[in-house]
Amino acid sequence: MDKFVIHGGSRLHGRATVGGSKNAALALMPATLLASGNYTFSNIPDLKDIKTMGRLLESMGVDVAIGARALRINTFRVNSFEAPYEHVKKMRASIYVLGPLVARYGYAKVSLPGGCAWGPRPVNLHIEGIRKLGATVRIDRGYIIAKARRLKGRKLNLAVSSVGATGNLLMAAVLARGTTVITNAAREPEIVALEKFLTRMGARIHGTGTARLEIEGVDALHPADETMIPDRIEAGTLLAAAAITGGRIRLGGCRPSHLRSLLTHLKRAGCTVETGGDWISLKAPATLRAVGATTGIYPGFPTDMQAQWMALMTVARGPSRITETIYFDRFKHVPELVRLGADVTIEQEAATVRGGATLVGAKVMSTDLRASASLVIAGLAAAGRTEVLRVYHLDRGYDHLEKKLRLLGARIRRVAGREY
Ligand code: UD1
Repeated sequence: MDKFVIHGGSRLHGRATVGGSKNAALALMPATLLASGNYTFSNIPDLKDIKTMGRLLESMGVDVAIGARALRINTFRVNSFEAPYEHVKKMRASIYVLGPLVARYGYAKVSLPGGCAWGPRPVNLHIEGIRKLGATVRIDRGYIIAKARRLKGRKLNLAVSSVGATGNLLMAAVLARGTTVITNAAREPEIVALEKFLTRMGARIHGTGTARLEIEGVDALHPADETMIPDRIEAGTLLAAAAITGGRIRLGGCRPSHLRSLLTHLKRAGCTVETGGDWISLKAPATLRAVGATTGIYPGFPTDMQAQWMALMTVARGPSRITETIYFDRFKHVPELVRLGADVTIEQEAATVRGGATLVGAKVMSTDLRASASLVIAGLAAAGRTEVLRVYHLDRGYDHLEKKLRLLGARIRRVAGREY
């Protein structure tokens, strides 16, 4: 297991380019099960989760060739309709194969994902939705087993605006007989990317980008190529890293409109932020101001930036309150930030950050993807040496984060597991 060694105190400066979106790629890759043929995806980040999804598809008979920031997928020879526990336990997004498999092949056996580092993450909406579309679904020995001759369009109202359930049900509905209406659908950019991709494959989707999707099922789809949208969370993480170090950076290859809430928070915290069509520049103040954040569905403040925002607030002037409304238990980073000198207390779904901390380097443990990013950010501001252990969590979702940070002047290096 690799670790990062960080010597804090360097101001980030310079330019970096944001890579392609992990969560968009993880939704689009399973969508290729919907039509036989060849697909080419570009702007694919080099990530463990992409490889895991690639392996899962390969286990079903799909040819997956991972190239330099690109993927070639061939779905001519799909011969298995199962997502085994070995894959799903590594990555919850594996559940995305459920909708496409049932819609196209009439059968899917997908392991239930179970819990995760930040608490329960149910998939009831995926299951209920597939059932409403006419599939018979049973749970057997930890597996969801779904069967259907052909799915039938229905009205589906999501009790919670779930990204995964929207994506899964959308992929199921595109080949159903008749019209499906999904209300309270997720509007996250990664879901909009999926809607656009499916449309390019021949799907008939009305209301793209809105919370009401009307999908007229078609008999067949065809392959299409796609370029992934930029990863808004990678962009946000780099901006947070610059902000905590008093730095000045310019990010290229990003989509500022996907980051409105975060950019507003950064401005309130005293950062000077400018944007163009595909770039964002940030100049941090000498000391950040305290600004609370409440996570919400898009376009609200992203839960995937909550931990990184908390890292910033530990050194900001004054107290702030950070409320998590998406995953009430997503505070595993707090005890580790406290080890670096932060003063944070948790009360149910909210954390109070006292602010004004003098962070001092220590050994800290990554517990999940975004928690790891918050520890790296805190380490960049901490005096002396910080070691962030178990960065495999971080590698699931950041494409060589340490290299990008080093290009921006950070003193951070990866130490391979066998070297320590
Ligand atoms: C996706 C993202 C993840 C992000 C999250 C919220 C991917 C691969 N992952 O996860 O990075 O943090 O969106 O923006 O894109 N829920 C239910 N029942 C369900 C499904 C979800 O109650 O069947 C609840 C969850 O417990 C949670 C909320 O809905 O409270 C949102 O979860 P959801 O949007 O589904 O997250 P994911 O798709 O798993």
